[in-house]
Order: sequence, then structure tokens, then C-alpha cells
Amino acid sequence: MKNKKNIILCGFMATGKSSVGKKLAETLGLEFIDMDTAIEAEEGVSISQIFSERGEPAFRELESRMVERMMRRTGLVISTGGGTVVNPRNMANLKSCGVVVSLTADFKTILQRAGSGEERPLLQAENREERIIALLLKREPFYSQADITIDTSSLTVEEVAWEISNRLNH
Ligand code: S3P
Repeated sequence: MKNKKNIILCGFMATGKSSVGKKLAETLGLEFIDMDTAIEAEEGVSISQIFSERGEPAFRELESRMVERMMRRTGLVISTGGGTVVNPRNMANLKSCGVVVSLTADFKTILQRAGSGEERPLLQAENREERIIALLLKREPFYSQADITIDTSSLTVEEVAWEISNRLNH
């Protein structure tokens, strides 16, 4: 695994992809790219606005295009959005350009970390708990295709970053 080009973090919303990605990149001296932040910067609007003004399929299109661009680069730590790898083509593209690490967390932890979830359009549901459970069930088979899986429920950001770099060296 040492020779793989990029490190890609995938997983459900609020599992720590962005904060862990940033920490890991700092530790390893690599460039960090948060896909959602990069999309927002390019489009000049928030992810929530893209969802509400153009619809989810338009966002998924932007996301897939961003993956295609990322896969031509090396030396990156990439945090994907929670739904990125639900598209099998995105997962295949990401695997072809690096090691894909899935961050997981138990339901209670996700609920806590997600807070009010205002900036996450998919959590704007009448029953947020039910929405999370339904999405988790639907998405688990995709996240589980990652090369490495780490349960972050009882770990700090630093501990998860350390665990990833440790696993990559074996
Ligand atoms: C999404 C997760 C979000 C963002 C968008 C859709 C999803 O990213 O890409 O709101 O489909 O789970 P985070 O996982 O960083 O919240």
C-alpha cells in the first residue's frame, strides 16, 4: 500500500472525513482536498444551495466530475462527500488512484456529531433519525468496499489520523 498515490477518505456524513483528512495531510506533508469545499469554491455557492436550486442529480454530476479530475493527480489526501462512493464508478475511479479508507461511526455518534445538520441537505428531514438509519442501511454495502475501514466512534481526530498512517505502513 505504500506505493499508492493518494489517500481517499469515504464514509457517512459526520464520521470525521474532513477533520481527519486535514490532520492526516498535515502529518504526512500531503496536500488536502475536501471535495465539497472544492465544489463550493468552484461553483461559488454552498452545497445546500446546489441541492435546493439545481437538485441532487446536478450535485452528483459535479461530484463525479471532481472525482475524475482528482484521479489524475497524486500526493493528495482527499475527503469525499458522504454520497460520493455510492456511485460505483466513483468508487472504481478513486480506487484506481489511491487507497480508499472508509470511516465509520455508530448511529448515536453520527447523530451527536451531525448536530443540527443545517448545512447537510440530506438531513433536512422531518424525522432525522429515521433518515440517517435508512441512508446508513442503503450505503453500508458501498462503504464496505473500501480498502481499509476504521470505526471512529470512540477515537479522536488525531487517533484516527494516526491509525490510518499506521495501517498504510503495513
Ligand atoms: C452528502 C454528504 C455531504 C455532501 C452532500 C451530500 C451525502 O458531505 O456531500 O450534502 O450524500 O451523504 P459530508 O459527508 O461531508 O457531510
